[in-house]
Amino acid sequence: MTDRYLMCAPDHFEVAYVINPWMQGNVALSKNDVADRQWRVLAASIGEVAQVERIPAMSGVPDMVFTANAGLVLGNTFVLSHFRHPERQGEEAHFAAWFATQGFQVEQLPPDLFFEGAGDALLDRGEPLLWMGYGHRTSAACAPMLADMLEIDVEPLKLVDERFYHLDTCFCPLEGGYLMYYPAAFDEASQNRIAARIPAKRRLIVSDADALDFACNAVNCGEHVFLNRSSAGLVRVLQAYGFSVKQIPLTEFMKAGGSAKCLTLKLNEMRRSSVRAAA
Ligand code: ARG
Repeated sequence: MTDRYLMCAPDHFEVAYVINPWMQGNVALSKNDVADRQWRVLAASIGEVAQVERIPAMSGVPDMVFTANAGLVLGNTFVLSHFRHPERQGEEAHFAAWFATQGFQVEQLPPDLFFEGAGDALLDRGEPLLWMGYGHRTSAACAPMLADMLEIDVEPLKLVDERFYHLDTCFCPLEGGYLMYYPAAFDEASQNRIAARIPAKRRLIVSDADALDFACNAVNCGEHVFLNRSSAGLVRVLQAYGFSVKQIPLTEFMKAGGSAKCLTLKLNEMRRSSVRAAA
């Protein structure tokens, strides 16, 4: 089945406020023409191996370009985000309306909880499991609620480095049950839980430099991995595991604290059975 990804063109993208450390010092410094070009290359590259759907960009919500944060898709259910920062809460109604018109069942968590969608909730690619990041944006209490709502095992992971404020900035489940991640972004208990669930030979640990280039913020579609930038060493490791890496500079979006994965949301997320059991 062809994968489908939701993207939002950067027509109204800018760094207009500071809600993560990457935005600090970058207010009003992103360049529209460069952002537009970079976004188009990403959309065209993903479009070669998957289908790209677009949600119209809205003015007044410059971070709407980061569709990963719209919510969480599993099957026909869409769990709408509720952003921690008021600056992004205006996006919620646009995403809710789009998903409803596409025929998704739109669900919401209790209004006193914050939830930042597929920025903080990532499906494992080896077993029916949802990894959930908390500590900066998403409320820890979302974990049991998502487990009930979606009838899936949820593993909460505590994020402790504010540069890696969403789970998808430092953690990337890959096809075949692999995981590319940056352990130092997590507290020790979470690092241990990751290691307990995924055998060492399926864990790809990235360096500080790759982590800071947002290598973990990758879009993985089949054997393809799209990311902002990766060291030659990480490219080789990914190749050795059967992945082909395409680097697409997304420097304008890095100024807002996002890159490839943040700019996309996979729309056809199916429940899967375990492939790691036999490993
Ligand atoms: N400026 C946005 C924010 O701080 C960037 C979001 C990046 N998205 C992501 N999925 N990591 O919310």
